[in-house]
Amino acid sequence: MSWNRRHVLSLADFSPLEYDTVLQTASSFREVLTRRTKKVPTLQGQVVANLFFEPSTRTRSSFELAAKRLSADTLNFAASTSSITKGETILDTAKTYLAMGTDMMVIRHKEAGVPQAIADEMDRLNVKVGVLNAGDGQHEHPSQALLDLFTICSLMDVEKPRSSLLKGKKVAIVGDILHSRVARSNIWSLTATGAEVYLAAPPTLLPKEFADFAKDSDLDRKLFIHWTLEPALIDADFVMALRLQKERMTSHLLPSLREYHQQFGITRDRLKLCKPEVKVLHPGPVNRGVEISSDLMDDPVLSLISQQVTSGVAVRMALLYLMGGGKVG
Ligand code: NCD
Repeated sequence: MSWNRRHVLSLADFSPLEYDTVLQTASSFREVLTRRTKKVPTLQGQVVANLFFEPSTRTRSSFELAAKRLSADTLNFAASTSSITKGETILDTAKTYLAMGTDMMVIRHKEAGVPQAIADEMDRLNVKVGVLNAGDGQHEHPSQALLDLFTICSLMDVEKPRSSLLKGKKVAIVGDILHSRVARSNIWSLTATGAEVYLAAPPTLLPKEFADFAKDSDLDRKLFIHWTLEPALIDADFVMALRLQKERMTSHLLPSLREYHQQFGITRDRLKLCKPEVKVLHPGPVNRGVEISSDLMDDPVLSLISQQVTSGVAVRMALLYLMGGGKVG
């Protein structure tokens, strides 16, 4: 076990040992979640504040449930009903939660860098509050990539999910890469654990800068860029589809959703190019019938979408536990 982080803001500098620590801890919590009493006293007396400045269904609920299963007290905040609407700054909101005795802050914001700024402020104040990035703009979404990793590794070895299982596996990430913090965090976790990552999207959603990024010495021969779907799908072990983030598209980047589906939509037919045991992931929310055909999305054999959601609780329990200290129980 290796862990000495107070905050989880990005996966860019995570080591394989740290990935294994998260996987192993999440695996213990998955076992807890199968018990009759699905609760452990690990974070009793601690306060976890969910500060979501942007809409969310699964991430917010999953963090809330994870904190509750660890016996923490939870505070939920939604920007639209908060004092932000009265002009309070984000840092002042964070300090208000600090003054109530918050031990960990889970933060989502539409601007990249907000969780980092709050973490820096907490460090400057020397208050030992942990900050977890639950998605910041187009930057990162570490807990999503960690639950994706846990889902994939658990599929390969449910007893001992570990990062080395990914060595040599081909993962295609398809869709709105440009706007996706999920893609960025997954690029770090998957390449660091030995997978080969193939990005595929139309050029408007996968700009040429990604090709330069792929030449970076850390990513060379681990990250590949394609502006058509087929080369990314050939012999893929896993296909991760990403939502078209219409709310972040400032200009017209797509001819039509129908055309996108025709060229980049994941369908049963297209999966024939992949390995026979291929599995499909999607972080959700899904534009049904756009990124993935509707029947494939609900296919209990091919789709891992519900397993991803289930994994989310155990992985977020692991992160809160590792950041907050205590016993798995
Ligand atoms: C993602 C997000 O918010 O970044 N969703 C999620 O957290 N499960 C992806 C998305 O919004 O498309």
